[in-house]
Amino acid sequence: MNRLRDEDLGTPAATGAPVTVHVDGREVTVPAGTSVLRAAALSGVDIPKLCATDSVQAFGSCRLCLVEVDGQRGTPASCTTPVADGMRVSTQTPKLARLRAAVMELYLSDHPLDCLTCAANGDCELQDMAGVVGLRQVRYGYDGHNHFDDVRDDSNPYFSYDPAKCIVCSRCVRACDEVQGTFALTIAGRGFDSRVAAGAGEPFLSSECVSCGACVRACPTETLMEKSVINLGLPTRSVSTTCAYCGVGCSFRAELRGNEVVRMVPDRDGGANEGHSCVKGRFAWGYATHAERVLAPMIREKITDPWREVGWDEAIAYTAARFTGIQATYGSGAIGGITSSRCTNEEVFVLQKMVRAAFGNNNVDTCARVCHSPTGYGLKQTFGTSAGTQNFASVEQADVIMVIGANPTDGHPVFASRMKRRLREGAQLIVVDPRRIDLVRSPHVTAAYHLPLRPGTNVAVINAMAHVVVTEGLVDNDFVAARCEEYDTWAAFVSQPECSPEAVEESTGVPAADLRAAARLYAAGPNSAIYYGLGVTEHSQGSTMVMAMANLAMATGNIGREGVGVNPLRGQNNVQGSCDMGSFPHELAGYRHVSDSAVREVFEAVWGTPIQAEPGLRIPNMFAAALDGTFRGLFVQGEDLAQSDPNTEHVKAALSTLDLLVVQDLFLNETAAYAHVFLPGTSFLEKDGTFTNAERRINRVRPVMPPRTGRHEWEVACELATAMGYPMSYGHPSEIMDEVASVTPTFAGVSFAKLDKVGSVQWPCNDAAPDGTPVMHVDGFVRGKGRFVATPYVATDERTTRRYPLLLTTGRILTQYNVGAQTRRTENVVWHDQDVLDIHPADAELRGIRDGDLVELSSRVGRTTLPAKLSDRMTPGVVYTTFHHPVTGANVVTTEYSDWATNCPEYKVTAVQVTPVSRVPAAAPAAAGAEIGAGVAPDGTGGEPAPVAVAAPAGTGSGTDAG
Ligand code: SF4
Ligand code: SF4
Ligand code: SF4
Ligand code: FES
Repeated sequence: MNRLRDEDLGTPAATGAPVTVHVDGREVTVPAGTSVLRAAALSGVDIPKLCATDSVQAFGSCRLCLVEVDGQRGTPASCTTPVADGMRVSTQTPKLARLRAAVMELYLSDHPLDCLTCAANGDCELQDMAGVVGLRQVRYGYDGHNHFDDVRDDSNPYFSYDPAKCIVCSRCVRACDEVQGTFALTIAGRGFDSRVAAGAGEPFLSSECVSCGACVRACPTETLMEKSVINLGLPTRSVSTTCAYCGVGCSFRAELRGNEVVRMVPDRDGGANEGHSCVKGRFAWGYATHAERVLAPMIREKITDPWREVGWDEAIAYTAARFTGIQATYGSGAIGGITSSRCTNEEVFVLQKMVRAAFGNNNVDTCARVCHSPTGYGLKQTFGTSAGTQNFASVEQADVIMVIGANPTDGHPVFASRMKRRLREGAQLIVVDPRRIDLVRSPHVTAAYHLPLRPGTNVAVINAMAHVVVTEGLVDNDFVAARCEEYDTWAAFVSQPECSPEAVEESTGVPAADLRAAARLYAAGPNSAIYYGLGVTEHSQGSTMVMAMANLAMATGNIGREGVGVNPLRGQNNVQGSCDMGSFPHELAGYRHVSDSAVREVFEAVWGTPIQAEPGLRIPNMFAAALDGTFRGLFVQGEDLAQSDPNTEHVKAALSTLDLLVVQDLFLNETAAYAHVFLPGTSFLEKDGTFTNAERRINRVRPVMPPRTGRHEWEVACELATAMGYPMSYGHPSEIMDEVASVTPTFAGVSFAKLDKVGSVQWPCNDAAPDGTPVMHVDGFVRGKGRFVATPYVATDERTTRRYPLLLTTGRILTQYNVGAQTRRTENVVWHDQDVLDIHPADAELRGIRDGDLVELSSRVGRTTLPAKLSDRMTPGVVYTTFHHPVTGANVVTTEYSDWATNCPEYKVTAVQVTPVSRVPAAAPAAAGAEIGAGVAPDGTGGEPAPVAVAAPAGTGSGTDAG
């Protein structure tokens, strides 16, 4: 693949009825509403242009695209003139040539003519257009009033703004408004003084800009340009691939010079992102070549020994021998593996196969255990399949959008931009979240209702919405009668007075009137869509809540067409895929239970080995068994258990008892501190395979360089399995996908060849749906009838007490990702270099805490210190932090409570206390003994510093402690 410039048709596509026009004698038929500029381009005639580009609406400011139209006076701008049936357009006349040259002359009289040394030389539309209009001289000279000395803004770490080169076309402003939806830019000043300004004329870095890069992409000159291009030069080739950060799964063109990545450009043909990106995918890829990458395998006998670098053969032989030895001593069930949602489908499939076939047990689990496992359970119970119902584009048909326990502008930014576009068009928004997230009020978007519920009361809130729907006669009876079952039992359950908004007002903190109004709005639709995140799943009732949302959608008929649905926003890039590939201990690929002998036979025939019928251990069971001494060896593929899993001290205790811990990752992470073997992993720039995003879209991941480690991860798993006595090999990852397709009905039509041909497909993709399935459950649910499940609200055992009177909830921010292993090794740290604790001003005042003070955050299981940030986004009584930085180790305070059905940890509800540790005067460093993450004495006065975060002493409290 080698495409460096996109075709630009000048203005966005229109959707009207067909009309026929003639451009320079060429006939072309286009939808009504199409601009003359676009119609011309579609007919093969390129009209010169500068201020128009097809990713934003036309503006008509540069006057370069003038045309003449038969029967009309003057020379209209073709970008703002819509076609009319029978219109005859001339784009090349002596008059037009004169006018265009004059326009260009004016532009160039105020433009530094340093083309030969300009970073955009060869990739500049101004330069191109000067050539196209045939300008030979600038009559006004260059000595007049100009902007040559305007000061460059290099504050953003990834792109620079050089106002001397700006032609004030406002493409950047429109991109920020229309594509990104941040409205960070304006054209300030008038006439000659007009200039692009970020915010109120401040540097980009301190403005509202979220560094998505849309303006840089839209800029036709070198004014806004990637610093990597300025430093390295323009790319010479490109490879199409997929972002390895969040579950949106944006497609990118990796643009290279030789083998060096120069920039990542979002792909306009990408089904998930259609040319947009966020700061992570667009700019934060430098970790792949970071100096701290480990590139060679390492082993050690004991975790107190120093690492010894070895070759791959020795590492594989050593690991195989140790695993085999453990099994000989403790039995075949004493070892297991954990797959990673950051790896490709092919890498995950091979790893779970290694466990089931070579280890001979089902002790395989995945990091989805700690995020979206309740989604898998809840949607399977109600709809029959463990996946979101819609494609992202579906939101463009939604009339009411309900966002529950998700923060899309930070967690899923490119989808958030799409959602905000729909909201600006008039869709109504309901936000159910303890925090006032950005979406509640952002430029041109205001939620109709924000229900600031108390953490842990999701199920009570959604049941109360269902109560309103049922008792006020808002049910879609036809849909329910035709498509669902077990409705009556459920309806009787939610109709009970104790499910009413009034009954739960006090426990949830949500005013009953607001809840009723929001429920009516959702039921009225006509198209209502639910989008949710980890704020739904990471609860002791995560699975209950997923089923409760499914109930509500079914009761109102909001399933099975565009604009509706129940949609998990997946955290990591391949959470969906890692689950699809059979990473759970009870399910083979395609969510089929291991106890089903017919399913096992399919795999056994292909794999040539028996598969155990009993489900294996989940991650928490592995930890418990390790502490019991019955589980002795673990292979961890790309997951930092010691930072990301709850109750860190418990996790570390379990890891440190293992006889063999194998960690495969890019960097020596926190978990590697307990490892005996470190196998270097590959970054997404080296991987060859597929990721599956939150909308079930299977995207190709193509290598832009060979593995820097010398081995693909799927090769490592094959070699390890082979060394343990189960021969496993593939010639290419496409063969792994072929095997997946052969044993998984929903993937039967998927192959690399197909993906290379069509770009991407959404599963199910098989004979019944050869082009994939953008929207599920259209004619019937996967399980036949949609099943209503009664969802009683059971309060979590995690309660606030006098000792721990606040509730902590956790999440992520835009510029960092998960445990930060990648983003902390990029310039993204300029936006977020430490975790902070958001606390409501009233809670802070009560405790004598000022903004920026270092505070101790303690729960009954642990404590840590971090700076406080006063924020009225918080509900009083609720505090919030992120877990991107190991120095804070926020998960040291989260508890062992978990979802009843799936063991997904209850990260979102922890009873805590916050106490001041030290007051940090402005611009002064933290006092000694009070460093971030350091443990403190129980009285909160500083005390003996402990390394990083620490567990609370035994007996300092329990869930019901009132001390
Ligand atoms: S980078 Fe994105 S958010 Fe920032 S100004 Fe440009 S378009 Fe707006
Ligand atoms: S910065 Fe670029 S896109 Fe924005 S007005 Fe100037 S030239 Fe146009
Ligand atoms: S939205 Fe997600 S997938 Fe897209 S560029 Fe950002 S991190 Fe990558
Ligand atoms: S491209 Fe039409 S006015 Fe600028």
